Formats: sequence, C-alpha cells, structure tokens
Amino acid sequence: MDFGLKGKTGIITGASQGIGEAIAGALAAEGMRLVLCARNGERLAAVAAGLAAGHGAEAFPVIADLSSQQGVDTLVREAVAKLGRIDVLVNNAGAIRGGSLLSKPDAEWHEDWALKVFGYVRLARAVFPLMQTAGGGRIINIVGQAGRQPKADYLAGGGANAALMNITKALGDEGGPHNILVNAISPGPIRTQRWQTLMTRTAQQSGKTVAEAEAQWMASNPLRRGGNPEEVAALAAFLASRQASYINGAIIPVDGGDQRCI
Ligand SMILES: NC(=O)c1ccc[n+]([C@@H]2O[C@H](COP(=O)([O-])OP(=O)(O)OC[C@H]3O[C@@H](n4cnc5c(N)ncnc54)[C@H](OP(=O)(O)O)[C@@H]3O)[C@@H](O)[C@H]2O)c1
Repeated sequence: MDFGLKGKTGIITGASQGIGEAIAGALAAEGMRLVLCARNGERLAAVAAGLAAGHGAEAFPVIADLSSQQGVDTLVREAVAKLGRIDVLVNNAGAIRGGSLLSKPDAEWHEDWALKVFGYVRLARAVFPLMQTAGGGRIINIVGQAGRQPKADYLAGGGANAALMNITKALGDEGGPHNILVNAISPGPIRTQRWQTLMTRTAQQSGKTVAEAEAQWMASNPLRRGGNPEEVAALAAFLASRQASYINGAIIPVDGGDQRCI
C-alpha cells in the first residue's frame, strides 16, 4: 500500500529511542523528511545516521528540552529551517514518574507535566498555524492507557494521559475544518527502556525477579506479552497516511487488548 508520504515532512519528539525511534524508522521508510528531537545529542545523531544509511532518509537531529517553551521554540524554528514546512507532528517525548498522592511532591508533578502535557500543547500550538497556512496536516499524540485506567501509584501519568486524550479530541474539532487531523495512540506495555526501568523498580519493590514481575503484569493481557515499538509505529505511519483521511479525534489503543473499555 502506498501511504502517499514520500517527500512529506515531520517532527518526531523523543526520537532517540523506544517508541519515538521506531516511529522515525517507519516514517523514514515511507520516504518522509524528518526532524528528530531529544536531549541526548549522541543517541539522536546515531538514530539519524541509521535512518540515512538504512533508508536514504533525510533526518535532522535537533537537541532540545521540550519541557520548556524555549525548547519548543528551538525545535520548531530549526524544523522549519531544515524542512520548510511541517506536514506531521508526532508528540511522543514523555517521562512521567510513578508516585501516589502522598509520595509525589509538587515539584515532580510540575516537571512531569511540563513535558508531557505542556510540551504536547505548546508544540501543537506552534505547528497549528503553519499547517493551517499549508492547507492541512496531521498531529499524532502518543498517550498511554493509564489515562483510561487510573492507578493510585501512577497518579500524574494517569492524569496527564487523560488530559491529553481530552485535548486530542478537542483539537480534532478545531483542526478538522482546516484539514488538520489530530489523533492519539494509546499504547499498552511496550518493550522500551522506559518499560524496562518500570519493571526493574516493580521487581525490587515486590521482591520478585524482573521476569516474574513482567509475567505477572502480562497475565491479564489477552496476548500474554508486551508490545514492540514497531507495533506502535505501524499505526503512527497509517495515521500520517492519505488512507487515514477520515480519522480524526480518535484515541486508538495498541495494547493486545489490555485496556478494559468499550
Ligand atoms: N513504553 C511503554 O510501555 C509506554 C506505554 C504507554 C505510553 N508510553 C508513552 O510513549 C512515549 C514514549 O515512551 P518510551 O517507552 O519510548 O520512552 P523512552 O524509551 O524513555 O524514550 C523517551 C524519549 O523521550 C526523550 N525525552 C525525555 N525527556 C525529554 C525532554 N525533556 N525533552 C525532549 N525529549 C525528551 C528521550 O530522550 P532524551 O532522554 O535524550 O531526552 C527519549 O528519546 C512516552 O510519552 C510514554 O509515556 C509508553
């Protein structure tokens, strides 16, 4: 299937590893020209070089901390300079830490939401007028299943993802008349560095091995396994494609059936 993405341009945040790296790979394979963002320049440069070598893709690394307005401004300025226009924005950079009502201090809430709520909103705000002028675009927000399934020990993550699901739907309303389609992907447990860290902590806290902790988590997943970043990236590429022209304001799980809602 030809996704019609050859020569299109995109920004992917958190592209130096995990889900963001896999999305960069999927979009580069479709012939897109990309700007990749993260804080660690070395890892980012290695991903960009890999895309150039593997797909002949134009991929420009931009180092920025997206938890500040300044970082967002830097990214958008550089992206416009390198790419000329922005057809697709993938909001993916997030690093919310666990914690419950009594254990998580205000400073952590602020830091976590500065990236995964404000970072997403600020980037959408920055690219919206550009997409409007260009006649349309796609925004894909990577959220997470805690938004629909609250957990007392992941309060900030659940709240942020619920907010972003709501915001995705509302931005779909705002963007629709301008042919800016806004959707979210809600991954279940995906095997990345972030997931590894979570499992290691869970194992330590419960006195289990990492394999045991993971097996316990997966016991309720219909597929009995975690997902791979490429399984999320495949949906992101579809949502960016011309085939997805009537999908807007949707929040789509990629979780093996883990999320318990209709
Ligand atoms: N893995 C899962 O099971 C899962 C499930 C549901 C939702 N998600 C969501 O999917 C997204 C990606 O998760 P992942 O598992 O791929 O995470 P990951 O492996 O930890 O990768 C996170 C990426 O974000 C970048 N990043 C972190 N802080 C940043 C900042 N302040 N400014 C710019 N970039 C920053 C990291 O690079 P630097 O550190 O170099 O900046 C890295 O490229 C997150 O929003 C996460 O909440 C993941």
